[in-house]
Amino acid sequence: MKTHNLALIPGDGIGVDVTDAAMAVVQAAARVHGFAIRSQSFPWSCNHYLQTGAMMPADGIETLRGFDAIFLGAVGWPDTVPDSVSLHGLLLPIRKAFNQYANIRPHRLLPGVEGPLKATAFDILCIRENTEGEYSGAGGRVHQGRENEVAVETSVFTRAGVERILRFAFDQAMTRRRHVTSVTKSNAQKFTMVFWDEMTRRVAADYPDVIVSHMHIDAMAARMVMAPASLDVIVASNLFGDILTDLGAAIQGGLGFAASANICPDGSGPSMFEPVHGSAPDIAGRNIANPVAAIWSAAMMLDHLGEQAAAQSVMAAVEATTARGIGAIPGRQSTDEITAAILAALEE
Ligand code: IPM
Ligand code: MN
Repeated sequence: MKTHNLALIPGDGIGVDVTDAAMAVVQAAARVHGFAIRSQSFPWSCNHYLQTGAMMPADGIETLRGFDAIFLGAVGWPDTVPDSVSLHGLLLPIRKAFNQYANIRPHRLLPGVEGPLKATAFDILCIRENTEGEYSGAGGRVHQGRENEVAVETSVFTRAGVERILRFAFDQAMTRRRHVTSVTKSNAQKFTMVFWDEMTRRVAADYPDVIVSHMHIDAMAARMVMAPASLDVIVASNLFGDILTDLGAAIQGGLGFAASANICPDGSGPSMFEPVHGSAPDIAGRNIANPVAAIWSAAMMLDHLGEQAAAQSVMAAVEATTARGIGAIPGRQSTDEITAAILAALEE
């Protein structure tokens, strides 16, 4: 029997609750579709930091390298560890180390979910550059704490990095409605963003069947609210993609529905799958987190592992469940109840 080896990093807060839920669904999908999932869980988290002084051990990246995929719940517990420390100690280094340069985030309304736009149908795929740009980590502070203090943080856009994410987005568009909207701010940022626009035009020349639009990030924020149905694939830099995907989460009903995949397209390392919502300390451990985002992310993982039929069954089970109003409206059912309903739909 085919076996997939998963590294689980439940992490902090509701990351733990939703990882359990997602893994129950993955195991059930494996039983139904005749493959095996072997998983190893790592306790890397803010608690781990408090106990050991590090978010993950020094050989953490090497440990993860041997797995077929990574599932991550959430990272962050700002009351005890500053976010700038916890995220730079776990999530962000994993994205960079394994060259997970494509962050894929689908935004659409699941059946039964109304969303704040009152049931306007839309189906957006956001492709976010995930390893450089505004998140390159190049910068520093001088004269810290003094009157003459200076802080700089430089965006780094490489030709290779921009070209590959654009190609990835165009390839995705070819499997969908063949429309790419490239989001920049080239009216204000005349080096990096003008460069990105130029690269978009260059790459677009290789995809004559794809319709390309260019938009500025501010106008795109408005368009995602006013006319989301007009969008197919969006491609954006690391920070812009980060911001637009929280907006995408909002219009799809909330962060409890927003899934994501950090993909290493060349397969040189494992890809990582995680819900967008974060650790949500205020609702952690209360059995009220919506597991749908995590379960959707797990379906993306199954698809990536070559288990397309299992991925489709999981999404069908999620949709059958939300269509019945379970997991569709925040606070109505517990994490366990939603998970149980999805499991029942999967095994039907
Ligand atoms: C996300 C998160 C992270 C990001 C944070 C936690 C560093 O907001 O995955 O969207 O900005 O990438
Ligand atoms: Mn974010």
